[in-house]
Amino acid sequence: METTVQPYMSILFLTLLNFSTFLHPSLSDDPFCNPEDKKTLLRFKKSFTNSQYILLSWDPITDCCNWNHVDCGDTNRITSLRFVGYNLSGQIPPQIGNLPFLETINFDNVPGLLGPIAPSIANLTKLRYLIITRTNVSGPIPEFIGSLKKIEFINLSYNRLTGQIPKSIGYLPKLGGLRLDYNTLTGSIPESFGDFKKEDFYLYMSHNKLSGKIPLSMEKKDFTYIDLSENRLEGDVVPLFRSKKKMELVDLSGNLLRFDLSKVEFPSSLVSLDLSENKVFGILPEQLTELTGLKSFNVSYNKLCGKIPVGGNLQKFGESAYFHNCCLCGSPLESCLSLAKILTFGLCLIECILSRYEPF
Ligand SMILES: *[C@@H]1O[C@H](CO)[C@@H](O)[C@H](O)[C@H]1NC(C)=O
Ligand SMILES: *[C@@H]1O[C@H](CO)[C@@H](O)[C@H](O)[C@H]1NC(C)=O
Ligand SMILES: *[C@@H]1O[C@H](CO)[C@@H](O)[C@H](O)[C@H]1NC(C)=O
Ligand SMILES: *[C@@H]1O[C@H](CO)[C@@H](O)[C@H](O)[C@H]1NC(C)=O
Ligand SMILES: *[C@@H]1O[C@H](CO)[C@@H](O)[C@H](O)[C@H]1NC(C)=O
Repeated sequence: METTVQPYMSILFLTLLNFSTFLHPSLSDDPFCNPEDKKTLLRFKKSFTNSQYILLSWDPITDCCNWNHVDCGDTNRITSLRFVGYNLSGQIPPQIGNLPFLETINFDNVPGLLGPIAPSIANLTKLRYLIITRTNVSGPIPEFIGSLKKIEFINLSYNRLTGQIPKSIGYLPKLGGLRLDYNTLTGSIPESFGDFKKEDFYLYMSHNKLSGKIPLSMEKKDFTYIDLSENRLEGDVVPLFRSKKKMELVDLSGNLLRFDLSKVEFPSSLVSLDLSENKVFGILPEQLTELTGLKSFNVSYNKLCGKIPVGGNLQKFGESAYFHNCCLCGSPLESCLSLAKILTFGLCLIECILSRYEPF
């Protein structure tokens, strides 16, 4: 009995399946895109002047989950927008705020992208990754970023952002990495930047115009990577290194930092340290020879003095890691006993001593 029914059943089933795939060409393999999201994306497309070629696949008769540059994950809602190296020209369209399931925004190397970070992004409470890099986006970093509590990673490097860094960023509970490097940000680093919750945090804020002291609160945080180079930061960073276990990369070069290097306790986890082009004084501590993992090191263009300790990797870094100081000497620089050194030593010593007491 069963054996005679089964073939008819499967024929009927196959017919139904064919019929439904005819109605919805993609139902069989992909989820059908939410109509509101589709409408929003089509408006988003219209707001760029040159999108007809870049967004050729954004055709209203097809399933928008199958379009290029978007992704629906396992749902029928748009969860990701990605443009890497596609030169869309215009502003970030306000419609972006009407894609409520968006988790990833990625505009990378889109030089035609102009204007501010769209205020409507404030609506995207599910956002986890905000990447707007290598664009001509300008204006301030909006305060609302601090209320997107699901954010895990922000990369806003290489744009034209100006103004102060909102302190609310420091309170984002899931943030694990922040890149704001290569903009024109001003003001001081917010006190809240010592409150980042995640372990293995990385912070890149180089090549801006940040000024003032590095906040005391940040001295407690064990940053894995911290790059604050090429700013106008001042003060003493000795406590930043104290009792740290994870610190691997520290780049503070090209600032106005003034502290006694002989007081620094270097974490044994250090791989890369750049303190060049500051006003660092004192001697190189012997402890530097114990940093066996140190691969990159630079203390050039400071006010350091005395003999470079011998051992560890210190002699491997080459002259340019040490040159342009007051009176550093010994391998890989010239011997501390050379005639030229002795002649200039007196003058250097005076300069070094004065550099400690130079008024701010
Ligand atoms: C990107 O597009 C803008 C505006 O159309 C144009 O001025 C710019 O030269 C383009 N950049 C590249 C790298 O193609
Ligand atoms: C955007 O920035 C690039 C350099 O980063 C520049 O070549 C380009 O002309 C700028 N303007 C536009 C409208 O793309
Ligand atoms: C924010 O989302 C709501 C609901 O989806 C929508 O009505 C509103 O237009 C959005 N606001 C902006 C600025 O996009
Ligand atoms: C952030 O953007 C910069 C510039 O495009 C890029 O070099 C860097 O790899 C990005 N960082 C991450 C972690 O994606
Ligand atoms: C150290 O930094 C100085 C100044 O930026 C640079 O000229 C030099 O090449 C660097 N040397 C090394 C070994 O990184």
